[in-house]
Amino acid sequence: MKSAFPFSQKLIAGILDWTRQRIQGGQDPTHGAQSFDALEPQLGGSITEDGIGGKAAFGLFTDVIVPSTRPFGHPTSLSYVASAPSQAALSFDAALGAAGIFAGNWDGGAGAIHAENQALHWLADLAGWGDTAGGVFVAGGTLGNLCALHAARDWKSRRIRRPDRWAVLCSGEAHSSIRAAASVMDIDVIEATPDDKGRMSAQSAHAVMKPNVFAIVANAGATNCGAVDDISGLADLAEEHDLWLHIDGAYGLAAIADPQTRPVFAGIDRAHSLIVDPHKWLFAPYDSCALVYRNAADAANAHGQSAVYLDAVDKTHWNPSDYALHLTRRARGLPFWYSLATHGTKAYGDAIATTIATAQAIADGIAQMDGLDLLLGPQLSVILFRPTAMSSEDMDAWAERHRRSGALLCLPTTWHGEKVFRLCIVNPETDPDDVLAILKSLT
Ligand SMILES: Cc1ncc(COP(=O)(O)O)c(C=O)c1O
Repeated sequence: MKSAFPFSQKLIAGILDWTRQRIQGGQDPTHGAQSFDALEPQLGGSITEDGIGGKAAFGLFTDVIVPSTRPFGHPTSLSYVASAPSQAALSFDAALGAAGIFAGNWDGGAGAIHAENQALHWLADLAGWGDTAGGVFVAGGTLGNLCALHAARDWKSRRIRRPDRWAVLCSGEAHSSIRAAASVMDIDVIEATPDDKGRMSAQSAHAVMKPNVFAIVANAGATNCGAVDDISGLADLAEEHDLWLHIDGAYGLAAIADPQTRPVFAGIDRAHSLIVDPHKWLFAPYDSCALVYRNAADAANAHGQSAVYLDAVDKTHWNPSDYALHLTRRARGLPFWYSLATHGTKAYGDAIATTIATAQAIADGIAQMDGLDLLLGPQLSVILFRPTAMSSEDMDAWAERHRRSGALLCLPTTWHGEKVFRLCIVNPETDPDDVLAILKSLT
């Protein structure tokens, strides 16, 4: 039968060849965002009635689209929370796309869902949770936080009479996604004052506690400063007030894989839910957030969808849509599963330990450099520092110059009201000597 969309075998081979070269060669650090005005003449008009053909369209991808994106997977990308997917995860992700698996229910994706659950159970085991634990991979930490908080409110609403307004309690250093989730849920956010390193203590949370709070969100690696809150103290407080404790470990909870760092998260065994993004510090490609509940049945009460056309769905096994706000989904946790299954959990712990050691070496180098003030860190792998004699404009210009040349992505942030530089290391291939050599130009 004639295909509605004929495509040449040569082009399939060409796309696969480019994919192989990209995985083997890595990303080009000189790539970066272009302006709308630069992109429009090249990409505008690419959708036509008759199509421009696979060769031309793929040419736009390789020559225009990819070069105008920031190579977050490069070892010199040390801003935001970057990404460092393993070659195993990247190549497997390409295969996963080709497999075309519907992982929204057991009927469509049984094998994929079962394998994803192996990876989720590894995380649940590290947290010290038992057989009742389980969850699902969602697109990112923002959605993971929203879904966990929805489950938390549902859980609490079965235990007390509904207050006029619900509230969630978190640190002043909580990620912006907590406020975004609160806005979607139409609830209040109560912020506790963190200490000088950005950590929320049980005392500071207690000081702002209110009767309408249904959940406490603890940071396991605050985005701006890397802080891990006093999870153990917050678990006590949550128990005392019969509250859900959610751990936002989108970035930092990956460090629980490193036995040396694991004690920093003490008390997590008493939390009710956690998130951690494999696309941040667990060496998987975009996009995936592991959302895990200590008692998965609590989440199913909140998230389960029902409709006549869903009656046939096999719910005797694991039904991913019971654990988050979605139905159709790709098996986005599988590249993480593949990389973890391939390399083993020890290699994961070692790679995390390497990045933590790299962050420490960079912080030590900054501390020893005349003209730079080390302000904080590394807490996990975030460092805040400041050039002692540089104007705000010069800091911006320096960051822009190095971002454009591909030498280093190191951007400013604000800490205690002051403009500072922030580094966040998630890539075991980042070389501390290379980074320090570039930072020298700040002095
Ligand atoms: C602590 C924390 N929580 C949540 C998020 C949001 O995750 P995502 O960008 O995957 O939505 C981030 C992102 O950096 C984060 O660092």
